Amino acid sequence: MERTLLMVKPDGVQRGLIGKIVQRFEDKGFQLIGAKLMQVSEELAQTHYAEHASKPFYGELVDFITSGPVFAMVWQGEQIVALSRSMMGKTRPPEAAPGTIRGDFAVRTESNVIHGSDLPESAEREIALFFKPEELVVYDHVIQKWL
Ligand code: PPS
Repeated sequence: MERTLLMVKPDGVQRGLIGKIVQRFEDKGFQLIGAKLMQVSEELAQTHYAEHASKPFYGELVDFITSGPVFAMVWQGEQIVALSRSMMGKTRPPEAAPGTIRGDFAVRTESNVIHGSDLPESAEREIALFFKPEELVVYDHVIQKWL
């Protein structure tokens, strides 16, 4: 079963969007196996966004993600990486379709409400950065067979 790291960014937490965002993934039929409200350190932000270190917006990205608490989550489900990315919508809100999280809630690229891993390999790397193994809960998810 595939897993992914999803994170409500500081703007989404401040705007009170955690519940609405969690609801969307529950409604889809995915299984929440870990979650915490946390302050991202500068060091964690730099490691998490290391692949963007050469981009002009890197400093802004690190400053933003460390600017306030985030709600980090691990979700599980079939093809969850690709499906959650399509539920999030395109990175740049003007390109994000209505009905997607960014299409419905985000205005600016710099504060686009949610982060989600882009590939299964990055998901495993990001989950290990944000969660200790004992923070993830393994339990039966009976609705799986009906999806
Ligand atoms: S790129 O340039 O296509 O590689 O960037 P992308 O993969 O789309 O985005 C990488 C993350 O950087 C955020 N981003 C920005 N932040 C601030 N300013 C600007 N201009 C900007 N452009 C992209 C984008 O939201 C991605 O963050 P995550 O957390 O992965 O969604």
